[in-house]
Amino acid sequence: MELSSVVSFMIFILPCYIANATPVILKNIFPFKTPIDFGKKFFDGMRILGDGKTYEGFISGVIVGSLIGTILTYFDLHTIHGSIVLSVGAMLGDCLGSFIKRRFKIPRGKALPLLDQLTFVITALALYNFLIASISLEYYVLSILITLPLHLLTNYIAYIIKLKEVPW
Ligand code: CTP
Ligand code: MG
Repeated sequence: MELSSVVSFMIFILPCYIANATPVILKNIFPFKTPIDFGKKFFDGMRILGDGKTYEGFISGVIVGSLIGTILTYFDLHTIHGSIVLSVGAMLGDCLGSFIKRRFKIPRGKALPLLDQLTFVITALALYNFLIASISLEYYVLSILITLPLHLLTNYIAYIIKLKEVPW
């Protein structure tokens, strides 16, 4: 794979990363924190998603991710519908990750390595693949290779500047 396609891919996936980071950055200024699962429990007695997944976070992620994509369209680097799908996919994947963690009885905020870093980006790509245009396997692999170090680094920075209580 050429370097230029790696760079193009990183620009393409940007709305997904921005969407995922937005709730963490904005959470302290949300006037309300409404859990997506409304506090409800699943059949196993654990929360469906937990208090870490809120409507405010989900919606702000979709808005900011799509806004970044919209800015990129002015430079012919993205499409508005594509960036919306990537942003929604990222937030859905984030929820899917929490759903899986709760089923494994992992409490909100506790780490599940790999799943914490990868569900959002894989879900975003899969949704784009399903709704807009096919994405070849090598790009899924590339997304994993890029996301793992990037996510660890950005979460560590978020921890240092006290946006997150734990470095994952
Ligand atoms: N957040 C939010 N709404 C979302 C996603 C994230 O409000 N849809 C905020 C929450 O304050 C959350 C924080 O961003 O605590 C960090 O996100 P994340 O690490 O994904 O959630 P966790 O609290 O670690 O919960 P989980 O164990 O379910 O991943
Ligand atoms: Mg977390």
